[in-house]
Amino acid sequence: MIDQAILFAKAVFDGDGSGHDFDHTMRVYRMAVRIAEEEGADIQTVALAALLHDVDDRKLSPETCLHKDRAVGFLREHGVTEDEIRRIVQIISEISFSEGNGRPSTLEGMCVQDADRLDAIGAIGIARAFAFGGSRGRRIHDPDAQDRTTSVQHFYDKLLLLKDLMNTDTGRRLAQQRDAFLRDFLEEFYAEWDGIR
Ligand code: ADP
Ligand code: NI
Repeated sequence: MIDQAILFAKAVFDGDGSGHDFDHTMRVYRMAVRIAEEEGADIQTVALAALLHDVDDRKLSPETCLHKDRAVGFLREHGVTEDEIRRIVQIISEISFSEGNGRPSTLEGMCVQDADRLDAIGAIGIARAFAFGGSRGRRIHDPDAQDRTTSVQHFYDKLLLLKDLMNTDTGRRLAQQRDAFLRDFLEEFYAEWDGIR
């Protein structure tokens, strides 16, 4: 079942370069399972929700986003019970920073949301932010702060806020180190920008 979900996600993300790629899905899957083990959450539910969490993402698939049609279709085809499908869809709907309005209502949802957020910070998060900005043709930074669409601006709009939004102790611990790395990165970035280092 997990192997099938991995293959399904791989097929869905084939060719996407916006940061919602298969590699992101696999990192979130591994991290979510690790958090679930430490927090005592249901591993199978967490694994499936993590693997399917972006297949109906609004940017990638606006027409299936609301009802998570791709995820539901996959789960039905593989004989998952309607109860379990409801649980997984709820987790997926609750994890998005932009779509969701707060904390997930289940421990399993908290594990997947923490894993998704951890992938937006630290070294990986930095790489993803500039890859995303690049895919949209945006500037990396505007020292006059007039251009609000730069990748560095995204650190202040979202990335630096995530550490304090973690749900689990495991997620919080990992986020602290990654957040410190973001702050070190910005300090070095500005020093280099200004020609000081
Ligand atoms: P989510 O799964 O929380 O909805 P997004 O779709 O907002 O995530 O973002 C996917 C990736 O692209 C993340 O790593 C995020 O930080 C990055 N990203 C999103 N918006 C921007 C932006 N305006 N500038 C730079 N990076 C961005
Ligand atoms: Ni994601």
